[in-house]
Amino acid sequence: MKIGIESISMYVPRYGMDLRLLADARNVDYAKYKQGIGQEFMSIPSPDEDIVTMGANAAEQAMEGIDPQSIRTVIFATESGIDQSKAAAIYVHKLLDLPQNCRTVEMKQACCSSTSALHFALATIALKPNEKVLIIASDIAKYGLGSAGEPTQGAGAVAMVISATPRILELGPDVGYFTKDVMDFWRPNYKDEALVDGKYSIKVYMDALEHCWEHYQADTNAAFEDFDYFCYHLPFSRMGTKAHSHLARQQKVPLSSQELQRQIEPSLRYNRITGNAYTASLYMGLLSLLDSKELNLAHKKIGFFSYGSGCMGAFFGGTVLPGYQDHLYRSEREAWLRDRKHISYTEYVEFYTHRLPQNGHNYRTSRHRSGSFRLAGVENHQRIYERVPASMGAAADSGKALAAAPAV
Ligand code: COA
Repeated sequence: MKIGIESISMYVPRYGMDLRLLADARNVDYAKYKQGIGQEFMSIPSPDEDIVTMGANAAEQAMEGIDPQSIRTVIFATESGIDQSKAAAIYVHKLLDLPQNCRTVEMKQACCSSTSALHFALATIALKPNEKVLIIASDIAKYGLGSAGEPTQGAGAVAMVISATPRILELGPDVGYFTKDVMDFWRPNYKDEALVDGKYSIKVYMDALEHCWEHYQADTNAAFEDFDYFCYHLPFSRMGTKAHSHLARQQKVPLSSQELQRQIEPSLRYNRITGNAYTASLYMGLLSLLDSKELNLAHKKIGFFSYGSGCMGAFFGGTVLPGYQDHLYRSEREAWLRDRKHISYTEYVEFYTHRLPQNGHNYRTSRHRSGSFRLAGVENHQRIYERVPASMGAAADSGKALAAAPAV
């Protein structure tokens, strides 16, 4: 029996900022962002967007053509939770009108709970092959105005349907794991922004990668050369390059810079123009690779490294299934990314500093460009979501002209 990804889709807000504007505002050489960190554009959620709206937008597309009755589990992976008690999965379950005979949960372990969700889904389907699992990874990465992590910020969601009838990627049971208690990045309940020691985090990431690979190799006898492409968790796109050269060096595999580029560059493109989306980041990298028009990835083997600060890592492999191109939303995605509205630095600060009332007072959010769902406001401490008519999603806001986004 094959188990794996039957469908996958991603959503990013309709707003973003060219990092040239941030470089000007922070008096930093733009080359540091573009070459040094590998970021060109940042996705920015509007005040009527949150992890639920982004997750529901991604999930609606991933569910196209899939019988909602087959979904028995919805797992929402996030580190930008909106409630200490209620799972964000329940809001999405309602917005998508999923069946009541369904379990719905939220999972947390920094950027890698989406990967644990994926492996829990595989185990569920191995026991109950007729069931399908909907996984939603949705996050808003906030590091603070003027912080070192600011140029790596982003937002977005990926949704995947996992089943015994995969069409995109087949996944096996083998995973190399690593867990260690470290404080490289965390966010106490009273803070909106993460606390991060970026340089230390890079070091711990590499350490986790080495240990995960060793564990995976010990279980599977896999060799580095068994993989055609690699996807890494990307807190910023340059991290993928750093991680891959590190693993190759560790494995004593002499990689030319062309070969290194070939193996990871296709997975980095979306991160450069969306920024970090925590739990969704690795799977946006997968979509970036799958969307590469010049590549036929059928039967190709991909190595994945998922990292969540704090920390936990996982290394695993997957094989791309023939015909996968027929089940992507590549042209829609390209158009969406291209048509995002470029906002000014001042608008970025306005969006960034917007907060919902902290006292539960009734509040209506201003209407902005959105997908099919938006956060309408707060009533009596409850977030209120609404479906947006298709004609309004692209249009509604203060009406500034669109500028062309960086080429995908
Ligand atoms: N032109 C080109 N490259 C430049 C440059 C310029 N003018 N100025 C600096 N650089 C390079 C540096 O040499 C460095 O490259 P290297 O990594 O190969 O050494 C890179 O740009 C970054 O510069 P650095 O001084 O290290 O940047 P920083 O102190 O601003 O921090 C991060 C960078 C990535 C550590 C920071 O953005 C961060 O903390 N990000 C968040 C990371 C995170 O979230 N981790 C947790 C989850 S995994």
